[in-house]
Amino acid sequence: MLRFREAASSDITTIMALERACFNRDTQEAESTYLERIDAFPQGFIVMESGTEFLGAVSSELWQYEPSIARDSFTLGHSIKKQLKLAGDELYISSIGIFPEYRKCGYGKLLFRELINRVHVLFPLVVRGILLINEEWYGARKIYANNGFHDAAVFDDFFTSDDGTKTNGIVMRNDDIRKLSLGKIF
Ligand SMILES: CC(C)(COP(=O)(O)OP(=O)(O)OC[C@H]1O[C@@H](n2cnc3c(N)ncnc32)[C@H](O)[C@@H]1OP(=O)(O)O)[C@@H](O)C(=O)NCCC(=O)NCCS
Repeated sequence: MLRFREAASSDITTIMALERACFNRDTQEAESTYLERIDAFPQGFIVMESGTEFLGAVSSELWQYEPSIARDSFTLGHSIKKQLKLAGDELYISSIGIFPEYRKCGYGKLLFRELINRVHVLFPLVVRGILLINEEWYGARKIYANNGFHDAAVFDDFFTSDDGTKTNGIVMRNDDIRKLSLGKIF
């Protein structure tokens, strides 16, 4: 049976293994960044499990909506504590990952919707959603596009692959994520 819960600092070893399984060297966040995310906003850091198996996790922040989109806000290792606004109206999804052996079974989209539901219940002031993806993260892009996120900005050559190739970053936004919520936590 699937189970969702808030992440705890005791999950950090598994969360870092997930980070390495999901992202290349240039894109991996440091352990300290993840520990800060868990400490600052555990309500937005959700783990998905089945029995004793850790399937994946999603992390997020609350920001105050700004119409303009600044590249600096999305840099690797930015401090959640400096940017977090608990009374903010925009959900920033900082990362979502499913271990490779569990991908393409529908878990990613379930995890995403669980985060949206929880935020809607706990932080009813949140209206919008924002995130940054690599143009080549096709699975993530599909989840967000299927959930009403549109391309809002392109950062040229934002990401670097292990072979040095540069790829663009795409900021996606949804102007009313409340429409996605079921209004209850399962
Ligand atoms: C992105 C990720 C979380 C998706 O998880 P998942 O459990 O495989 O996704 P799902 O099975 O729920 O699939 C969601 C949708 O994406 C599609 N999809 C999944 N992987 C895909 C891929 N590689 N290419 C194209 N479409 C893909 C599915 O067909 C499904 O579409 P549908 O709802 O229209 O049928 C997972 O691939 C992952 O961990 N990737 C590495 C980390 C990453 O890129 N994170 C995004 C950073 S924000």
